[in-house]
Formats: sequence, structure tokens, C-alpha cells
Amino acid sequence: MQSFEDNLQHRCEITDVQSSEFRDRFKAWLKSKLPLPLRIPLGIALATLRPYRTYDSLAYWQQRASWSGERAVMWNEPYACLVRERQREILQPFVQALPREARVLDIGCGIGVVARMLTEMRRDIAVDAVDIPEMIQRAKEYPNNHRINYMVGDIREFCAGESVYDLVFSSAAYCATRDISGLRRALELGLAMAGDRGIVLLMDPFHRWKYLAHPPRARFGVNDVISLAQDYGFHLTHRHGFIFWPFRDWLAESDMEQARRRQYFLIGERLIALLPTDFWADYKVLAFRRPTGDV
Ligand SMILES: C[S@@+](CC[C@H](N)C(=O)[O-])C[C@H]1O[C@@H](n2cnc3c(N)ncnc32)[C@H](O)[C@@H]1O
Repeated sequence: MQSFEDNLQHRCEITDVQSSEFRDRFKAWLKSKLPLPLRIPLGIALATLRPYRTYDSLAYWQQRASWSGERAVMWNEPYACLVRERQREILQPFVQALPREARVLDIGCGIGVVARMLTEMRRDIAVDAVDIPEMIQRAKEYPNNHRINYMVGDIREFCAGESVYDLVFSSAAYCATRDISGLRRALELGLAMAGDRGIVLLMDPFHRWKYLAHPPRARFGVNDVISLAQDYGFHLTHRHGFIFWPFRDWLAESDMEQARRRQYFLIGERLIALLPTDFWADYKVLAFRRPTGDV
């Protein structure tokens, strides 16, 4: 996901709101006058009030693929690095529990960060990873790709055959599909590709509140996902979350030292664990399997 400032910029670009000279000047004035702690609540208020619009999310991701490093798919590097550490921790037990030579699918793999993480965790697994051509091209530029089979595809249509993967994984790709019927279709196809004992593991910012479902995300809540999976006969086996969102824009945007950023990030993660609901987690972690699998 992008930085707070980029977000504001893109919210305007992708919702076809023509940039007026007045608004540009107003934004520049706000930036020069308001410190980050005030700009964040203002951004929350604006995002909550702004009407929800659809737009061509594929076009958005095509141009985003040219952004440098992790910014093509996430926040800036220092913040993304903390998110990836946490993602790795959460993934670890799922990956370790996979059978030998398991087949894994990474839906909407972006520049391949998680696909590479998966193959580092287990040397015997093979990963198929699908995304748009611009992202796949970026992913292929990284080394250590020999156990990853990158595939170009639209996740709203991609189907490698039914019941073929031991783990169907996706990180922040479903909610990046802004048309809701396309998102639903993509989820249905993802579920269909999990084998009888396969697991579907989603780490996605599923939200209905417009601030957290801001562009480039779709407005699709965690309960929408759970009920869709249950309609297809899947059981929810894990539900939690990560990235304490009240700290998110502050930690992603401030130029504090990385050690301090990590400290606050971890405090946020502890708060998520203590709080009684996953509302406070930006990314939801949902695992599903068919009733035939061991729970
Ligand atoms: C927030 S990025 C996450 C990328 C990756 N999973 C990660 O964690 O780094 C969202 C990804 O979804 C991909 N995406 C969005 N809509 C898609 C579609 N319809 N078909 C294929 N990929 C899509 C984007 O190209 C982008 O790489």
C-alpha cells in the first residue's frame, strides 16, 4: 500500500476527480501548515465522507507496478519491512504444517515477496504465483525464483483446475479488485482450487468502513468473506489480524528511527492480541478448509 500522501493523491486520480489548481494549492498549504498528527485525522474524515466510486483497478495496478521496491505493492520500505516480518511469523505455522512437496498458489502475488518467502520457509514446496503482466515482470527480476512458477492472469478469471493446491494463499490482492462482483468471483475461484485437505489462507484488508477500504481497496467486509466461504462449504479455522491501523499512517509516514518504529509497531501488535475484536487490525487473517480436512 502506498504512503499517506500518495494515497491522498491517488484517491483523487483514480476517482476521476480532476485536480483543480485551487485544490492543489489547498493541499500544499495543508501539508505545510498541518503536522502529520493532524493530517491523519483529516485524511480519515475526508476518506469517510468521500463517496465510494468504482474505477479501473487493473489500470491502477498496471501503473503502480513501475513504483520502486515494495512501494509497488505496499507502503514504503521501512514500514513494509515490519509488515513482512509479521506476515512471515503468521505464515510460518501454516507452511510448516503442509505435506511434503506441497503445491501452493499465491493469488495476486505482486512483485513476488511472499512467494519468495514461502520458498525460503520450505525447500520442498512449489509455488504458482499469479498477477498482471506488469507485476509478474517485476517479480521475475528478483533472484531465487526457480521454485516459483509465475503466471500472468486476472484473478477474477484465473483457475488452474479444481482442488489442486494444498495451500491457496493471498495477501492484499482480493481487496485490490475493486469491482465487488469480480472480487466475489475471484474468491469463489480461489476456494475451488483448494484440495480436499487444502487450506485457503487470506491476509487481506477486508473492511467496510471507507477509511480502511479506501482506494485502491474494495469495500468488502470480513463477514462478507466468511459467509461467502461458508456458502461454498468451507469452515473458518482461524481468524485474527495484524497491523494496528490507528498507528499505521503515523508509522508509515514518520521519519523516526527504524528501531523506534519497530517498537511502536510491536506495541500495536500486542494491542491487537489484547483487544476483543479484530476491528483494530488492518489486515485480517482468515483460514478456511473443507470439513473433510482435520481442523
Ligand atoms: C496490495 S498488492 C499485494 C501484492 C502481494 N500479494 C504482496 O503481498 O506483496 C495487490 C496485488 O493485487 C494485484 N491485482 C489486483 N487486481 C488483480 C486482478 N484482477 N488480477 C490479477 N492481479 C490483481 C495487483 O496487481 C497487486 O499486485
